[in-house]
This record gives sequence, C-alpha cells and structure tokens, in this order.
Amino acid sequence: MITPIGTPLAANATKVMLLGSGELGKEVAIALMRLGVEVIAVDRYQNAPAQQVAHRAYTIDMTDGAAIRALVVQERPDLVVPEIEAIATDELLAIEAEKLATVIPTARATRLTMNREGIRRLAAEELGLPTSPYRFADSLAEVTQALEQIGYPAVIKPVMSSSGHGQSVLRGPDDVAGAWEYACSGGRVATTRVIVEGFVPFDYEITQLTVRALGPGGQVATYFCEPVGHRQVDGDYVESWQPQPMTAAAKAEAHRLAAAVTGALGGRGIFGVELFVKGDQVLFSEVSPRPHDTGMVTMATQRLSEFDLHARAILGLPVDVALSRPGASAVVYGRFEGGPVAYDGVAQALALPGIDLRLFGKPAAALPHRRLGVALATADTVDEARRRAGEAAGLVEARPA
Ligand SMILES: Nc1ncnc2c1ncn2[C@@H]1O[C@H](COP(=O)(O)OP(=O)(O)O)[C@@H](O)[C@H]1O
Ligand SMILES: [Mg+2]
Repeated sequence: MITPIGTPLAANATKVMLLGSGELGKEVAIALMRLGVEVIAVDRYQNAPAQQVAHRAYTIDMTDGAAIRALVVQERPDLVVPEIEAIATDELLAIEAEKLATVIPTARATRLTMNREGIRRLAAEELGLPTSPYRFADSLAEVTQALEQIGYPAVIKPVMSSSGHGQSVLRGPDDVAGAWEYACSGGRVATTRVIVEGFVPFDYEITQLTVRALGPGGQVATYFCEPVGHRQVDGDYVESWQPQPMTAAAKAEAHRLAAAVTGALGGRGIFGVELFVKGDQVLFSEVSPRPHDTGMVTMATQRLSEFDLHARAILGLPVDVALSRPGASAVVYGRFEGGPVAYDGVAQALALPGIDLRLFGKPAAALPHRRLGVALATADTVDEARRRAGEAAGLVEARPA
C-alpha cells in the first residue's frame, strides 16, 4: 500500500514515529522530512541526534511496552520505524495486529532480529542458508560442551547485544572462562544466553544493502545496492567502502542469500545483510531490518543514500540503488566520558579533496569509545577514498568542552 503524503502538522499529515533516534535515525528523519513527512523521534535519552531534527521528540524507556503503546495511541503515526534492536517488540506485534500502525518492515522482523537466536535459526534451519557452525548455551558448562563440537578458534556473543558488546574470540580453552564472564556482562538484558560460533576465516566481509520496495508493477520487488566492504575492530565498525570488489559467483550468491532472508522477514524498507566471503563461498552472519551503520558510506557514493532508500521504500515510493562513484567512510570517536563535546580539526578535515563530514550532535561521549561522527570520502578508487576518509576522521578531534 502506498502511504499518501499529506502536509506536516496538518490533519492529513503523513506521520512516522522513529523508535530510536541515533545517527541512523537522524538521517532517516531528514530523508523523510525532505519528502514532506511529519517525524516524531523517540529515544531513551534527551537530545538524541534524530530528536534534534524532528517535529516532536519524546524520551521514554523503549523496552517498556506500555510506554510505547501510550505514545502510539497519543500520536497515531501511520508508520512506526524501529531504529535499534532494544525495543519491546512484543508490543509492536500487538500494535501491528490491532492495526494501530504499520511497523517497518514488520513486527515479526524486529522481534526475530533483536535476538541472534531468532534470526540464526530462521536463516540456517528454516531457510537452509550457509552460516558459521553454531550452538546456543546458557552456562559455562554448556559453552564448554558447545566448544567441543565447534572447536577453536570460536566466537562467543550474548544473544542480545550489538556493536561487539560482550563479544570475544576464543583461541583455546584458557580463554573460555573470561569470555563467558564478559558475555554475561555485555548483553543488553540480564540473560546469560550466548551463541558460540566457529570463527570464520573470511577473505572479507560485506553488508549487502537490500531494499524491498514497490516495483513498477505495484508488487514488492527486491533491489541490491553495490556491496559495502567494512572493517570491524572488537566487533565495532571503524571504516567502510563501496563497492567491495567481488567475483561474479560470490556476488550472485550474496544476492541469493540476501533475497532469501529479506523475503522471509517481509515488509518494506532497507535491510543490511551481513555476509562473510571466502573465495566464491558466502556465509550469512546477521541482518538489520533497517539502515546499517556501515551503509553510511552511501551518503557519498549513491544518488539515493540508504536513508533516502529506506524513506522511499517505507512510503511505497520507487527506488534507485545505482552507485554514483566509489567512496568510503571512517568513524570519528569520542574516547572520554561525558559532555558536552567540542570538535577540533573540522575545517582541516573538510579542506581535504572529496571529503564530507557528519557530526551526529550526540550530547555526550562515553568510554571506551562512542561513535560521534563519520568522515565520508569519494575518489576515483576505493583505496584512495579509504585513505582520504581515514585521514579526515583522524583530523577531527572530539574533546570535553
Ligand atoms: N563467526 C565469526 N567469525 C569471524 N568473525 C566474526 C564472527 N562473528 C562475528 N565476527 C566479527 O565480529 C563482527 C561483529 O559481529 P556481529 O555478529 O555482526 O555482531 P554485532 O551484532 O555486534 O554487529 C563481525 O562483523 C565480524 O567482523
Ligand atoms: Mg553485525
């Protein structure tokens, strides 16, 4: 169904409520506003990035289902767009079932992807997609058992966590107890359930940005952006680039896996399908049913960024995933606690050729590090863009004001 566009702040406004208002939500809000949508930004802390560019902002505990429902009943948005995983997704299922609002892409997709177990079982066991070997465990004894099956090296992660929190690589039996302790402390919620995965010695990893949007025939069609390559340190993204060179066979396989998993999740919007590639072999890792942090590079490389694509797709509008030119992104960190934050070196960074910058406007930094901005670069080649983005990000210094 196409959501007709009305007039913001008028009775016929097309209203979108963002649940989560970080840097990705900020860009989604801007993309929606450019299309004349009324945007309501919700987060658990005040002055979150998207709240600064929205028509209205609310600060609530988004793991509290009653609080989400109260806000949806008060605002009656056409679309509810989750931006983060840590949301009361059971309440989203009820909101969708009662047709109070459309949940993007679907309430079931947000529930399955907020937990590594839900999405891994769907991908590997229901869809039969290739993944790393894995086991789930609830105790140190079960982790030890799982490792007997999987062997070393292995990776352990809380089933509910993101950005590498609680995640470690195990090289041998000596690492197990410490990794278990860390996993128990690093999850989002007080659970001790973890996934133990075989470590995949991939050549490179990509985010296959995949859009489910209405095609020319009025049916949902699947569109693939050029592959985004990225580098993670301790499970957190530090730089990304587009396009990542791939063999034709690996690219076709990436599209096959991405189509299968996004098709099973359903709905409309952009998805970030994370894949490990070795030669022509591709393994599914995980998927975000929303814009992906590594996809920020598309603000420089594509005519329509992943945020523009998401906005169009969820409103039932046509999309165009064409790449304009090679580019890269590099993260700007704040490595201290507290705020406000002051930024030095911005002029020097922007004086470099082909450079753009996003400073998210986060009210505070945090330890060990918090992502506060991103440098974007375009160049004739990906290698040159990566070099420039890295140089620009290095020139920007975030410090306590
Ligand atoms: N089984 C694995 N083998 C090799 N590297 C892995 C494995 N699992 C995760 N990683 C690395 O850690 C990063 C973060 O892991 P991921 O499962 O995507 O967690 P998050 O939800 O925190 O992004 C991946 O992008 C990859 O670089
Ligand atoms: Mg990931």
